[in-house]
Amino acid sequence: MKVFITGGAGFIGSHLADAYLAQGDQVSILDNLSTGSLVNIEHIKNRIQINKGDIRDQKRVETLIEQADLVLHMAAAVGVHTILNLYLLILLDLKLY
Ligand SMILES: NC(=O)c1ccc[n+]([C@@H]2O[C@H](COP(=O)([O-])OP(=O)(O)OC[C@H]3O[C@@H](n4cnc5c(N)ncnc54)[C@H](O)[C@@H]3O)[C@@H](O)[C@H]2O)c1
Repeated sequence: MKVFITGGAGFIGSHLADAYLAQGDQVSILDNLSTGSLVNIEHIKNRIQINKGDIRDQKRVETLIEQADLVLHMAAAVGVHTILNLYLLILLDLKLY
């Protein structure tokens, strides 16, 4: 099975990548490395397809989804500290400010 994980360099996403690889599945991830890290997937970097980029890139996401049998959406801006630091950027992005 081909598994596509958004946020695959994050805490949960990288563990999901480990688990699906262990049962013989193919794994691709998409991550902008905003809070995640390549360190989390260093041990499997040669066994998965790593796509550096943002989930707001609709065309890229659609292409990766089309190639997958299962999509696990873990990409998210997580944590109070992250949200407070990104507050203005998020408002601008949502065109609320
Ligand atoms: N960790 C927990 O205990 C826990 C518990 C319950 C729910 N969750 C949920 O699980 C999800 C993942 O949590 P986590 O702990 O793995 O967080 P995390 O920050 O470790 O992982 C999120 C990943 O998403 C990536 N990301 C963020 N914005 C992105 C974007 N626009 N495009 C591409 N990649 C992007 C980050 O770089 C990071 O690798 C979140 O929705 C979180 O709310 C986590």
